Amino acid sequence: MHILMVCLGNICRSPLAEGILKKKLEERSLSWVVDSCGTANYHIGKAPDKRMIQTAASYNTDISQLKARQFSKADFEKFDLIFSMDKNNLEDVLRLAQNNDQRQKVRLLLNEWKPGLDLEVPDPYYGTTKDFIHVYKLLDEALDSLITNWNVEK
Ligand code: 4NP
Repeated sequence: MHILMVCLGNICRSPLAEGILKKKLEERSLSWVVDSCGTANYHIGKAPDKRMIQTAASYNTDISQLKARQFSKADFEKFDLIFSMDKNNLEDVLRLAQNNDQRQKVRLLLNEWKPGLDLEVPDPYYGTTKDFIHVYKLLDEALDSLITNWNVEK
């Protein structure tokens, strides 16, 4: 399974999703490929936001070595599933899709956890420590569901 996490800047939500998912997969001895990216180009090449690195570290998750990159059309071919953190990211990625095969790969991440509710992972960038911790807890829960939902032969 090849999984891509997408947010706006690739410095807060999607790198955390990548880090938590990789850790869970290692704990379960699953060898999926996981990556993350942003729809925007603001932070290309940068490490995750310090507040997100710290929040992750407080839960024994190391995301300090990740580097931001921007989504590209080639990602539709490299990944089986593309999970967006919010509806804006979802629309931005869908706009770049060229066929139904590509469109079907793109989903809202939290629908793995609460199907059909179209819930979003809130952007913590302009928030406080509490908002970063909230994002961690949401992702931690949703990514358990993702693994359960997709842990099939692929
Ligand atoms: P992310 O958060 O999409 O979760 O990485 C953001 C990071 C940066 C900005 C917005 C959201 N920004 O406007 O620079």
